[in-house]
Amino acid sequence: MPADKPIEIEDIGSNPEVRESIGELIERRLSRRAALLGVAGAATLADQLVAAAEPALAQVPAAGGPSTLTFPEIRHQLSQRDAVPEGYEAQVVIRWGDPLLGDAPDFDPNAQTPASQAGQFGYNNDYIDFQPLPQGSRNAEHGLLCVNHEYTDTQLMFPGIGSGRAARLRPTAEQSRTERLAHGHTVVEIRRENGRWSYVKGSRYNRRITGETPMRVSGPAAGHDLLKTNADPTGRLVLGTLNNCAGGNTPWGTVIIAEENFNYYFGGAAATTGAQKDAYRRYGIVAEAQYGWGRFEDRFNLDKEPNEPNRFGWVVEYDPYDPQSQPVKRTALGRFKHEGATHVVNHDGRVVFYSGDDERFDYLYKFVTARPWNPNDRAANRDLLDEGTLFVAKLQDDGKLEWLPIVHGQGPLTAANGFANQAEVLINTRRAADLLQATPMDRPEDVETNPVNNRVYVMLTNNSNRTAQQVSPANPRPRNNHGHVIELIPPAAGNSFDHAATEGGRWAIFLMAGKPGQDAGAQYHRATSDQGWLSCPDNCAFDAKGRLWIATDGAPSAAGVADGVYATDTAGAGRALTKLFYQAPTGAEVCGPRFAPDDKTLFLAIQHPGDDTGSTFEQPSTRWPDFQAGMPPRPSVIAIVKKDGGDVGT
Ligand code: FEO
Ligand code: CA
Ligand code: CA
Repeated sequence: MPADKPIEIEDIGSNPEVRESIGELIERRLSRRAALLGVAGAATLADQLVAAAEPALAQVPAAGGPSTLTFPEIRHQLSQRDAVPEGYEAQVVIRWGDPLLGDAPDFDPNAQTPASQAGQFGYNNDYIDFQPLPQGSRNAEHGLLCVNHEYTDTQLMFPGIGSGRAARLRPTAEQSRTERLAHGHTVVEIRRENGRWSYVKGSRYNRRITGETPMRVSGPAAGHDLLKTNADPTGRLVLGTLNNCAGGNTPWGTVIIAEENFNYYFGGAAATTGAQKDAYRRYGIVAEAQYGWGRFEDRFNLDKEPNEPNRFGWVVEYDPYDPQSQPVKRTALGRFKHEGATHVVNHDGRVVFYSGDDERFDYLYKFVTARPWNPNDRAANRDLLDEGTLFVAKLQDDGKLEWLPIVHGQGPLTAANGFANQAEVLINTRRAADLLQATPMDRPEDVETNPVNNRVYVMLTNNSNRTAQQVSPANPRPRNNHGHVIELIPPAAGNSFDHAATEGGRWAIFLMAGKPGQDAGAQYHRATSDQGWLSCPDNCAFDAKGRLWIATDGAPSAAGVADGVYATDTAGAGRALTKLFYQAPTGAEVCGPRFAPDDKTLFLAIQHPGDDTGSTFEQPSTRWPDFQAGMPPRPSVIAIVKKDGGDVGT
């Protein structure tokens, strides 16, 4: 979701703990330069292991420059259409309203109903996963596309409804249900034949998960009083998942969908007067909801159901291969504005999930399972995510990385500070992390592990609220309008790395976004072109060669730049040399970059096309991808392929 366009309160920052003494500030400033130099210059054991693991990447730059990426870079531009490099093509795989289930009607923009939307592809596609068919294979031309639907742009969905927040508050009861059913997630079978991707209408795998799908709550917070409502006195059965932004998956073939800005849907006087008002405030829940759903459904009205928001802000795990399976909210991974939750298998078989809390001055987390996963028995992993330890990151000023356990009874997480048990710690994860004095970051979005060098890359979108007094080595720029990318280097463990470690790791700044020479502090490889600089890194992916692909959300249109996708080497001569690969149509952000298992397709989610300030159904800023009078722009998943059949990026 763009930071300053349709939903005005996004990312205002709700962390009251961000302050520091003058003494701390001076000490930080003194150590900052040394820390940056130290991290960049040290040949740690991890560096040596990385160098040994990727000699080809480190030593063989492509002809014509230091980057190994050979695609011809495209130009920054604002356009009604999208753009790909010469030699590539973008294919639309599926769009909002395309019928999925066998009995679903064709899309009719003038007559969307709850019944039609329930069987069609949802709105504002974000996270993308590709799960091969058959299950367990690495088939790159047939599989299940698993896609989040983060939120709805009411003003672009319904004729005659106007623009902005007023439009979001105006829907009828039926339109508001249509919106709820356009949220959530889609599973759809897709295949590539004769070079073209298409989806299979009526496949037995096709499924919609929505804002109304019943799902189980599991883990330490399940059944806690704070999760009980009139409709669910057990505190263990929730209707729906909302604001599913990015996500992740597991080694056992399940998908994780993350609940991000769940606060938008709830409102009521209790936000400022009720018993939970402090907890609401920490999660950005205010009296006036951003949607009008509470007018028709009590559960979105805090005055009638004060606990309903506590049932959102989790991650949800589901099995894409079993359309009958019930999704599960896994409370052990904590409650915050989860951007996503991506995994890496640790050297000892335990699985580590990294997750950003996307808000200004909020934190970076990881969850470590208590037990190793079982590669030989899928069912044995079914509830692996219910037991383990959640940690929050402290990025020390000297480049050291520390992970603080969020465990009841440890440190300040005690009854004296209002935590009766682990359930209450998890329901109030942000407050627990505040007390642990974690490092407040510049909006942590996607966090992904590089499959080649095992380093972890954190996209920090921006933070225009950070003051000069609040900078630190890890968030070194005041008024950070363009964001940055940080690299986490886990400590070595034999021939591998220990992602479960609480100390021994390091962090480094990979790049500082913005336009070099214009935006203070912008920092890339010196050969980065005028087209290759980026702003607002959001989602990311790695290809099999360990190269980082960054999708942006919030590019400065005043500078003639649209959101897009940039690719860079992470090691060798082309490290941090970003190249512009894809440019989105006006109003859109780019989400969910996902490579097919053979790297010959890059799937992208084009979210909220046409959504510029003041846009309406009748007058969007683009009609992409249809370019037809009367057809609104449609959030779409596209597949980018190389026309000669080669690897994307090559
Ligand atoms: Fe939904 Fe943080 O982007
Ligand atoms: Ca976004
Ligand atoms: Ca995002």
